[in-house]
Amino acid sequence: MHHFDYKAGRLHCEDVDLGEIADAVGTPLYVYSTATLRRHANVIANAFADIDCLIAYSVKANGNLAVLATLAAEGCGADVVSGGEMMRAIKAGIPPERIVFSGVGKTRAEMALGLEQGIHQFNVESGAELETLSEVAVGLGLKAPVAVRVNPDVAAGGHPNISTGKQGDKFGVPWQEAENLYARAGELDGIHVCGVDVHIGSQIGDLDPMRRAFVKTVDLTRRLRDQGHKISRIDFGGGLGIPYAAGDAPASPADYAAMVREVIGDLPVQVILEPGRVIAGNAGVMITEALYQKPAPDRTFLIVDAGMNDLMRPALYAAHHDVLPLSAPDENSRNAPFDIVGPICESTDKFAAKRDLPPISPGDRLAFLSAGAYGAVLSSQYNARPLVPEVLVDGENYAIVRRRPSFEEMTQLEAMPDWLS
Ligand code: LLP
Repeated sequence: MHHFDYKAGRLHCEDVDLGEIADAVGTPLYVYSTATLRRHANVIANAFADIDCLIAYSVKANGNLAVLATLAAEGCGADVVSGGEMMRAIKAGIPPERIVFSGVGKTRAEMALGLEQGIHQFNVESGAELETLSEVAVGLGLKAPVAVRVNPDVAAGGHPNISTGKQGDKFGVPWQEAENLYARAGELDGIHVCGVDVHIGSQIGDLDPMRRAFVKTVDLTRRLRDQGHKISRIDFGGGLGIPYAAGDAPASPADYAAMVREVIGDLPVQVILEPGRVIAGNAGVMITEALYQKPAPDRTFLIVDAGMNDLMRPALYAAHHDVLPLSAPDENSRNAPFDIVGPICESTDKFAAKRDLPPISPGDRLAFLSAGAYGAVLSSQYNARPLVPEVLVDGENYAIVRRRPSFEEMTQLEAMPDWLS
């Protein structure tokens, strides 16, 4: 579900003509819909309304401050994986007591930040991290609320590069070691054991692997409680998939919620969820302008002004994004296949192969749909290209929520050593 539709032949975000934004801001750029963000946050919250549940939006999906503030106003907490994401969430108005801190490589400084801010939970991913967190907490005279992230050895996820819950993945504590680590955590000063955490991957449309992982996690929680650990929370991570193309039918938030309720049964725990893509994915598009057509013996390239540095997902995961022209095609026009490529000097700088498009001329603009999650956050300045700007629409209003940097801003952190100046 999203709020990007044609009105009078022009693609709009809510009530704003995307061509108007592209004229004002230039291309390439990202545009996000407030209505879609709100709707998705509320669909999830409503699906879990009858149980004690913290929706900790996964900041890595889209960490723009205005996006975070929009979700904070809907009551979302945050799942963060760095001190930077934690500060973004807090700056955007998400209370620390609604923040969970995940990730395999937390530094002492990041742990101290989380402790001083009083975050809800540290999701600890190894014995060594647990010992370090204990030391940092004791040093500060504080106690760290801890869940151990377990690796349930269940494969899931749309692409091998985004599967995280299988033996051999770097994430979580190996299943066989979990109970020993809880025993150790129970002895350590500065550690308050309160939860169990699991996250098996991303873009998961089928609930079966999730159910298998969650059943194992709930069984473990019951065993830990029997052993005397006061486990009052289970964090089921994120991972629910979204439709990227016509015909995609991932499980709905309602089905997901029904499955979670069934799996936890009467276990008295707070449920924590870390949805990212399902909230932000379909709430954003990337807009680009066609520069040239280049015929080759076996195909026609359509060269656009966005590159893989602006939207990495096709290059990284062979991901599909639907493409729509900002001006609705003439009903009688005939589609032709194009390889849509960017200006970057890499062969993986390809957004789509043999994609059927209506006639496109230089200067025409295209929208890559479902680019709201893992889009702008993954962008870089490779090839000395400025970071792509971001715009947030709300009804008939829009605002630039990250502007394009100037050349001076892009180079201001660099310095000449004495011997060159
Ligand atoms: N929690 C943890 C611990 C995670 O590692 C992730 C995503 C999430 C929550 C949120 O998952 P979501 O609900 O968005 O599926 N860049 C890739 C996706 C990487 C996901 C990384 N972890 C892509 O563009 O497909």
